[in-house]
Amino acid sequence: MSVVSRLDTIATVGRDPSSGGYRRLAWTDADLTLREWFASEASSLGLDVETDRNGNIWAWWGDPSSGDAVVTGSHLDSVPDGGNYDGPLGVASALDAVGELQRRGVQPRRPLAVACFTDEEGGRFGVACIGSRLATGVLTPERALALRDVDGVTFAEALTRAGRDPHALGAESERLKRISAFVELHVEQGRGLIDLGHAVAVGTAILPHGRWRIDIGGQPNHAGTTRMADRRDPMVVFARLVLAAQAEASARDIPTRAARATIGKVSCTPNAVNAVPAHVTGWLDARAEDEETLDALLEAIARDIATPGITVTVTEESRTPAQYFDVTLSEHVAGLMPGTPLLATGAGHDAGVLAEAGVPSAMLFVRNPTGISHSPEERAEDADCETGGQALADVLADLLTADTLPR
Ligand code: GLV
Ligand code: MN
Ligand code: MN
Repeated sequence: MSVVSRLDTIATVGRDPSSGGYRRLAWTDADLTLREWFASEASSLGLDVETDRNGNIWAWWGDPSSGDAVVTGSHLDSVPDGGNYDGPLGVASALDAVGELQRRGVQPRRPLAVACFTDEEGGRFGVACIGSRLATGVLTPERALALRDVDGVTFAEALTRAGRDPHALGAESERLKRISAFVELHVEQGRGLIDLGHAVAVGTAILPHGRWRIDIGGQPNHAGTTRMADRRDPMVVFARLVLAAQAEASARDIPTRAARATIGKVSCTPNAVNAVPAHVTGWLDARAEDEETLDALLEAIARDIATPGITVTVTEESRTPAQYFDVTLSEHVAGLMPGTPLLATGAGHDAGVLAEAGVPSAMLFVRNPTGISHSPEERAEDADCETGGQALADVLADLLTADTLPR
């Protein structure tokens, strides 16, 4: 098999025919189908598959209890109308790399696992990397279980419906201690590799980022009888929020110092065509080069939208500091591919969460010729997917057979 043929076997799972995008939200039927697919692919490679207390799946080649493990993998869930590669490319490449190592006759000196982390995108319950954050303990079970999707279903209910025990959630410090190297391959999600003439890069860091819910309250009123001067319209302030996010981030987003702000989700109450709304909620995703810029961006946006007669409440739903991949491991990985560029990214990843918790982690990025992601237009050339898969196999072969792992 190849990386691309493995991806092809799941090409229809969760695909929405009207948008062409994938709707593989955590613990939905599409996600459950992909979990079964993964378990079956891993079993046919002779791997032992287990699902941990947080729903993350681990497929082992070798005995996990011996420690000093090498782990690779990514996630299978998507954002609503996501692309074909964000997550599954890393999983398919990991499975393919195991097949390749077995074909090469590699004799591992330590165990290897292919991992699929649960709900990396936070597309359903609002918090990203739920599986890895529960494992590292930065997300508590109490907080996770109370999260709700747009239909009001709690994370606890979704787990129960999927046949999981919601009371089992919790940190996995012993499991994480047994991992000596985690290498996640992922499609590059911006224009980072387009001009560099390379199919693969090694990751360096993830920008500080977070999500904020902005509740805007006004005076619900009649659309025909309320004079314009008398209105307290939260939709107008929401419109200013969108423009403020755009303007304040653009002013700070210079080539050497990134700043990004997005309002990608909104809800309006009562959502009636002939009524000034009572309430509008917008969700702000903001990311920046450093914590100071992120703070300044948030403060500027809040200042820009302050309006007499309108209440604005900002609630932080998640915030992640800058995450740095392990320098020794990343340099070692880059050294196996001379000339490979190094790239930081504005996208969040489970590898960042594990790195923050002290698990030596590195990333490989595969070129994205459109520079588009979180969209049906996300792309990776077939040849680049195979180059990435081979690069991952080479890295894993090195790590599995080295006398000692890079430290
Ligand atoms: C995950 O892909 C994120 O960065 O939102
Ligand atoms: Mn991803
Ligand atoms: Mn993503």
